[in-house]
Amino acid sequence: QSVDSTKVMTYRPAFHFAPPNNWTNDPNGLVFYNDQYHIFYQYNPEGDTWGHMSWGHATSKDMMKWEHQPVALQDYPNGNGTTTMFFSGTAVVDKNNTSGFGKKDGEIPLVAIYTAHIDSSGTGISQNQSLAYSLDGKQFTRYDKNPLIDLHTKDFRDPKVFWQEQFKQWVMIVAKPLEFKVQFYASPDLKSWSLLSEFGDKFGDKSKIWECPDIFELPVENEPGTTKWVITVSGGHPQQNGNLGMQYFIGNFDGKTFTPDALKYPLYLDYGKDFYAGIIFNNLPDNDKRKIMIGWQNSWEYAGVTPSRGFRGQMSVPRELSIFKNENSEYRIKSFPTKEVTSYRGQLLATQNSVAVTGSKLLNSISGSKLDIEFVIKRSSAEQAGIKLLKHGENQTLVYYNKIDNTLKIDRTKSGNVDFSPKFPSIESVPLPDTNDDIYIRILVDRNNIEVFANGGNQVMTDLVFPLSEKVSYELFSTEVATTFRDLNIWEMKSSME
Ligand code: FRU
Repeated sequence: QSVDSTKVMTYRPAFHFAPPNNWTNDPNGLVFYNDQYHIFYQYNPEGDTWGHMSWGHATSKDMMKWEHQPVALQDYPNGNGTTTMFFSGTAVVDKNNTSGFGKKDGEIPLVAIYTAHIDSSGTGISQNQSLAYSLDGKQFTRYDKNPLIDLHTKDFRDPKVFWQEQFKQWVMIVAKPLEFKVQFYASPDLKSWSLLSEFGDKFGDKSKIWECPDIFELPVENEPGTTKWVITVSGGHPQQNGNLGMQYFIGNFDGKTFTPDALKYPLYLDYGKDFYAGIIFNNLPDNDKRKIMIGWQNSWEYAGVTPSRGFRGQMSVPRELSIFKNENSEYRIKSFPTKEVTSYRGQLLATQNSVAVTGSKLLNSISGSKLDIEFVIKRSSAEQAGIKLLKHGENQTLVYYNKIDNTLKIDRTKSGNVDFSPKFPSIESVPLPDTNDDIYIRILVDRNNIEVFANGGNQVMTDLVFPLSEKVSYELFSTEVATTFRDLNIWEMKSSME
């Protein structure tokens, strides 16, 4: 095997957000404030596995190039045996100073609402929703009348808050993970909250607990004038079997209650193994109506033992969500890299109108592991047709159309280092529409991960991979008979995080 074993790979991505060091899981409080995007994130300042959870922080002008900031929310032992951890939550810009935390004229508070995870020796664990605010987007003051909502229970977490203009109220969605439910609360001032309603339990995938909910409204792309409400939650996965993913519900929210449309649930956002805890940005600038989600690119199944060095955990690229009506007149969500991601395309390394491939065809000019790849597969009678990515020796990651079950697949069983967890080597599949249409594929490759978006984001898969060498090649392939690939374009991606 031509494996570059002398090289110590750090598996640090080049255009995906990763913390400067140590461990991260969920993104928290994605928000635009003081002319910058902010990402807060679950961070353990003490090491590269899950631990003393705090909120790390970084800022950006374009959601891609992030400048690391000091840890925003971290607890210090109070000496009486109680520790508080800052679990996942949200950040909102309180433009009208409804909270009164702004003191000077025109001072606009940034308000973080998080789950306080309190472990008191003797009395056990409890989770409540608490608040801290900032007047400069960097330093936070904890509200002296926390908690905001306390049900005196252990599993009650991950608030997401938004301002609902129509009813002039703040709305919080928050999870009761063990009951497979979310609750809605309303508030005039971010401080006092009253229960509106609950949703869940009867619906969706309950193979894993529900966490990190979000709710937002989206116009339907191909049905002008219609908007729908969407709830996303992190929990089970299309392959179930212990895997983790994100599911969604489409319906209406009347300011009090969410009523789901009669669709066949569960519906999933991403069919890969490494997309979890995604939330959308709050308070984008006024003329930016997009709903942009960033998720944690990892899975609790093996997150603590991935072979990266010096850090562990990272985020997906920002993805724009939209709703469309599919060929069966059912609403579905699409997600696709935002234009900010596309703006990091560098040199165009290869371009080809049409190429017929039988067996394998090496893409001559392509090496390296930061790429944006686009092509269209014309379905033929080949059983499998696609691309071999990050090929080194016997190792490679496959992305291909599988005619037999009409799916798109990622096969990472031989992607390089797969031995660190028996849960890691796997094949993921996403069903394709039941047509003979050409398949539009876009793949972002960034050293230790690939993100696959088919047909404009109708089918999405995200997977980590750990190649054993940086000397890699790429091949198109088609089994038995020829497949035509058209409109092939491959760009080198510029680094945003180095
Ligand atoms: C999801 C999660 C959240 C929790 C956080 C703790 O990945 O379990 O429910 O707030 O991680 O780090």
